[in-house]
Parts: sequence; C-alpha cells; structure tokens
Amino acid sequence: MLTVAMCVALLGCLQAQELRGHVSVILLGATGDLARKYLWRGLFQLYLDEAGKDYSFSFHGAALTSTKQGQAFIAKVLESLSCPEDVAPDRCSELKGQFQRLSAYRHLATREDYMALSKDIEAQVQRGGLREAGRIFYFSVPPFAYADIARNINSSCRPGPGAWLRVVLEKPFGHDHLSAQQLATELGGFFREEEMYRVDHYLGKQAVAQILPFRDQNRKALDGLWSRHHVERVEIIMKETVDAEGRTSFYEEYGVIRDVLQNHLTEVLTLVAMELPHNISSSESVLQHKLRAFRALRGLQKGSAVLGQYQAYSEQVRREQQKPDSFHSLTPTFAGVLVHMDNLRWEGVPFILMSGKALDERVGYARILFRNQAYCVQNDEHWVADQSRCLPRQIVFYIGHGELGSPAVLVSRNLFRPSLPPESWKELGARPGLRLFGRPLSDFYAYSPVREQDAYSVLISHIFHGRKDSFVTTENLLASWGFWTPLLDGLAHEVPRLYPGGAENGHLLDFEFGGARLCFSQQQPEQLVPGPGPAPMPSGFQVLKARYRESPLISAWPEELIAKLADDIEATAVRAVRRFGAFHLALSGGSSPVPLFQQLATRHYGFPWAHTHLWLVDERCVPLWDPESNFQHLQTHLLQHIRVPYYNIHPMPVHLRQRLCAEEDQGAQTYASEISALVANSSFDLVLLGMGADGHTASLFPQSPSGLDGEQLVVLTESPSRPFQRMSLSLPLINRARKVAVLVMGRVKREITVLVSRVGHEPKKWPISGVLPTSGQLVWYMDYEAFLG
Ligand code: BG6
Repeated sequence: MLTVAMCVALLGCLQAQELRGHVSVILLGATGDLARKYLWRGLFQLYLDEAGKDYSFSFHGAALTSTKQGQAFIAKVLESLSCPEDVAPDRCSELKGQFQRLSAYRHLATREDYMALSKDIEAQVQRGGLREAGRIFYFSVPPFAYADIARNINSSCRPGPGAWLRVVLEKPFGHDHLSAQQLATELGGFFREEEMYRVDHYLGKQAVAQILPFRDQNRKALDGLWSRHHVERVEIIMKETVDAEGRTSFYEEYGVIRDVLQNHLTEVLTLVAMELPHNISSSESVLQHKLRAFRALRGLQKGSAVLGQYQAYSEQVRREQQKPDSFHSLTPTFAGVLVHMDNLRWEGVPFILMSGKALDERVGYARILFRNQAYCVQNDEHWVADQSRCLPRQIVFYIGHGELGSPAVLVSRNLFRPSLPPESWKELGARPGLRLFGRPLSDFYAYSPVREQDAYSVLISHIFHGRKDSFVTTENLLASWGFWTPLLDGLAHEVPRLYPGGAENGHLLDFEFGGARLCFSQQQPEQLVPGPGPAPMPSGFQVLKARYRESPLISAWPEELIAKLADDIEATAVRAVRRFGAFHLALSGGSSPVPLFQQLATRHYGFPWAHTHLWLVDERCVPLWDPESNFQHLQTHLLQHIRVPYYNIHPMPVHLRQRLCAEEDQGAQTYASEISALVANSSFDLVLLGMGADGHTASLFPQSPSGLDGEQLVVLTESPSRPFQRMSLSLPLINRARKVAVLVMGRVKREITVLVSRVGHEPKKWPISGVLPTSGQLVWYMDYEAFLG
C-alpha cells in the first residue's frame, strides 16, 4: 500500500518537474507614471530575455481605472514598446506581438477581485498544462494603498504550495525611523521578509551594480588601496537640473535628504564602504556586510550638513497647494552632508554626499579620490598619464548623464589597469576634447556597458531571478533611517540657503569641510527666507567678562563661549604639562560639553594629549558602551578623534563583575584609590562641571546623603531621573582642584542661574553652591541665554 502511495507521489513529483513553470506578473498601478515610463518597458525586457526558456508568463496590468480606460491605456503603452538594437526587427515584432497577447488589463479593487484573479491564474495554469512557479506583485501605487493591497494579496491571492510570492515595493518607505518601522511592521504582518523586494532604483543603475563586482574582480590591486591610508575622500553625488514643479505635494513632505540621500546615495555609500564579502554572489552575505557598514556610520550633527532651496520653490508650492502669499517653505532642495565611518578601514576619510534640484548639470557619480604624496620635479608637459605619480589618482563609478552621457567606470591610468567582465563592459573609444574631473578622458582606463540598460529593467530581471542583494531589506531600511532621522530632526527648523537655480548658482552652494563640520564656502549674501526671528549673529558680540557668585564669569554666544573655554583648557593643559609633566582633567557628562569635546577634537592640534589624563566627574550606572554612558559620550565626541595613551584614560568603574554600581564591588573606593595614586594630592588640574536646572552638579543632587561633605572622594548617589544610580566625585574632592570651570548653556538654565546667583553656601539644597575650590580658582562659563535669558 505504502509502496503504491509512494510511487504515485513520486510520479506526481516527476510530472511536476517536467511541467513548464508559469510566472504571473501583476503590475499594480499599471496606468501610472512610473509604469508608463519604465515598468512596462522593464517587463517587456524581461520577456525578451526569458521568452522560450524555462518559463511561460502572463502580465496583468491592474489599476482602479475602469476596464475600458485601462485597456485603452495599456494597449497604447504596449504599442509604443521597442526592442534594444541587438534584437533583429522580425524577432522583435514577433516577441512584441506575443507580449501584447500575454498582457491584459484588469480592474483590481476588492477582495473578490483578488480572489477572481487567483482563480483565473490557476485556471490558466491548468489549461496550459503548466505548473505555477510564482507570482510577482509590483506595487507601483502610493504607500497609503499598501496595507489594503497587501491584505488582499495575503488573504486571497497567494499562490499554492510550491510556488513563490514576490511583492515589489517602491519608495517612500516611511518618512523617518518611526514611520518606516510602523510600515515595516504592517507589511511584516502580511509578507515574509524573503517575499518583499523594496526597490531602490539606484541599485539597478549599471555603474552602481558594478561597484561590488569591480571591487571583487580587482581585489588584488585594490587590497592595498581601499582604505584610509590611501583614500583622501569619497564623493557620492547626484546633481539634477530639473526642479520639483508638479510634485511639490510629495516634495514638500520629503525634501532632498529623504528623497535621495537617505536611499540612493546611502546605498551607493554602503557599496563603496562595506567590507567585501568573500562571495559577492551570496545575497545574504552582501546584505549582512552592508548592515555592518551601517553600524560603523558615525552619528550626524547639525553641523554635518548644508541646506539650500532654489528660489522659485516656495512660489511653486504656494501655487500647487493653494497656500497664502505669506507661506515660505523650509524644505531643502539641495543638501551637502559630511559622513564619517568609525572603523579601521575608513576612520578619518570624509564621505561627501550631495544632491540638489535646479543645479547647473545632471550627473551622478561615486568618486574615490586617492591621496597623492608625490612631487614631480619636471614640468607637467612631460607627465605621462600612466606613469606620472603627480597626476590625480581616482576611481569613478559614473552613474550617468553629465559630459560623458552614459554610465562608465573610470580608473586613472596611474593606478592600475582594471579588469571588467568583457561580455558586459567595453573600453570607451577616444573622445578628444572631453574632460572629466579636470582631466582629459585619455587619463583614464574608461569602460562603459556593452548594452545600456535602464535601472528598472535590471531590477525586474533581478526580481525574477530572486536576487535579493539588489533590494533593500527591512533591517537595512531601518538602519538607514536610524542614521538619517536625528539629522532630519535637528534640521527641521533650519532655514535653507536660497539659490537662483542653474548656472546662475555660481559658487553660492560650494561648501567646505573640516573635522566633523561642513559649511558653505561663501558667507550668506542675504537672508531671503524669513527665519525664526532676527537673531543677532554671534560675531556681532564680544566675549563678556563679569563676576558671578564672586568668581570670574565669562559670557558669550555659544560658539564663542565654547571656543574660549577650549582655549582656556588648552592653555591650562600646556602650563600643567610644562610644570608637572602631566595634566589631569576631569570631565562631566551631559549635553553641554559635547560641543566643547568636538571643538577640542577638531581645532586644538597643539593640545598635549599625550600627557593628559582624562577622568570622569560622574557616571551613570550603565555599561560603558551604553549610549547613556558619559564615557560613551566622551568616546564618541572626543576620544576617538585624538591620540591619548590608553593608560591615561580613566573611566569610572561602574560595571564590575557583570553588575552595575553594587556597593560590595567597591567601585567608588577603587576610583578614589586610582585618583590618590596618580593625581598629586588628589588635586585635579582642571575639573569641568555643569549645573542642572535643579542646582545639581556632577551627580550630586539636592538632599544627597553622600558626597556633599566628609572624607569620601568618590561616592555612589541617586538621581531623580533615569538611570537613577550614579557615581560621582564628591564636593570635597572637586574643591581640591586647582581650577574648576562650570559650563552653563541654554535658556532652560536661566531660572536656576538667577536663583543660584542669590543663594549663599547651601549645598544640601543646591549642590552647585558648594563648589568653592579651597585654594584653586573657580570660573563660570555661561552663554548669553543662560546668563541674560
Ligand atoms: C527619485 C527621486 O527617486 O530619483 C527624484 O524621487 C529624482 O526626485 C530621481 O529626480 C532621480 O533618478 P534618476 O534615475 O533620474 O537619476
């Protein structure tokens, strides 16, 4: 009996194997713009590539339009299709006829419509004596329609067992990290991760798709070059001449960072920066390496970006969205962003991402510019492209348009002769007079695709072949939004620089970078968009010197205040090192010192870091790698940018024996002993403090039972806010310092500043009032908002 059953089953399997597979493609939004311009063409290309091979096809153009209108639309689009040059005319018209017969319009709105579609597909498969291989649903519809369609597919139009389902999704995939996560969760309720193909059409651009294969095929030559030791900078650029007219309702909500940088340019960045997997054909491995690259991205600050907006934009929004004359948009149409990666390969290498509408030319590229430390004695007339070490050395993945007019891979001849797959890339012929990046084309080994293909055709083929590495997974998507969202939040009220558009932009949008900051090269000529109030420029003010609680007070606008404090710290450090051979600096946590750390990291090349010991004023009882940890702040904003000997760094021992701030572990005592052993007389050269809105300083809070007096140098304390447990230097220890600087910034501190100016020595109520160095100096550093309100 069993044998008979097995035989029947086996026979069934054998038959199934022999049956030809059938693939149904359902294009949702088949009458829309994207479908008309690219998707039908891409599907036709798929048919041209696959016809007569292993699978049969049917193409269902679906939309909400009436059947009559839909049919007419599709008939027109199909009629306009043409074949690439390498397909003979007879063959082309035969295949085009077949494709037209296999394509049909259908109205798809309700659950019943989806059930009917599923039945029709099954019937067609049966009639044709076929086996269903899979269904591709291409969502070319606005995201608000996703959930309903997804529900209908999931409940009523999944293929039967043994056949795959692939759903293809188009951006926008959310607006920020939270909305992207919500959308992902919603879709995750209907589809499995491997069923979803999120399109970033830049991954289908031939030059972009060639980045990993190029790195792989030229491993030997690139191994020694692809790192911070040789790369001076990387530019990832997408310039456009078009503006946002006609799409302002979309654009107004997104702006250039969400529209282009968060997706297209970030994808290119990861392909350039990621570690190269051993096997680049393994989608899983590529995607994992990409994720790791995301993890190495250093968080962006407001100062990492410059924004612009073409002048006509606000007027276009007013017109298209019936806004009042007084409306001015803050949406950026241009952005330049400086990105850094914190890993051994790329530390210190600037990655510049830039895109804009209404610029002087349309061009896209990823350009890796190598350092050049050669000096050539002979006149440059004698320099030979493939020998001179003085010519620029660069590799460019030229995405398209621009002077060259086609995708290309360019490698400076003085680097190496690259290897590219000859069946798909050919050497470009000479183009006398053509210059790229300031050099004649002849300076490069230059390759272009044998057959130019548009991105959608490439991606549709990858969907059909299940090549997931050309698509954005949920994890990658969220990693990208996680990277961009803080910057977007920080820039939400930033007034973009206005630019006239096109060639008239001149040098208005040029920008420069240094350290972690990027700024326009030219001063703002004139404020054309009304900003939030006519704030005076910091440079209009002098640093003010006064007294506060009978000690010197320095007040200024934040930038100048930080600069002054950093200068004072450096001067103190230099003096201490000269006199005692070392400088012991104790630093507080919180957000106020962050710009100070950045200033010290990027502007103070003369700082005697090699002789500086860094101590913590206080710490939260969390592991040192926790983002809440003060040490982690110090690490992110200062330590990783400077060269301090490891043994000079003294984090507070809050995490011992796998537990946090347990009395029995005696972390506070250990820190105190370390201080006593290394700091002469336990007297720090400089202690940097802050002042909380409740009058706390270090982690000494009002009514603290310990740390305000007594013998203990280091104490465990409780904070009124999370994380509750803290470790802190005590007031007596702080007061032994040679110098104490208290940094107070921001309007939120105004009230406490006024209050503390009036109170006497009452550390129990206001711990800050107990800061009074016994024989050292106390200096207050307050910005105008904290001091004057
Ligand atoms: C799209 C953006 O993703 O890419 C558009 O939404 C942009 O604003 C377009 O114009 C650019 O793509 P391409 O292929 O023309 O470079």
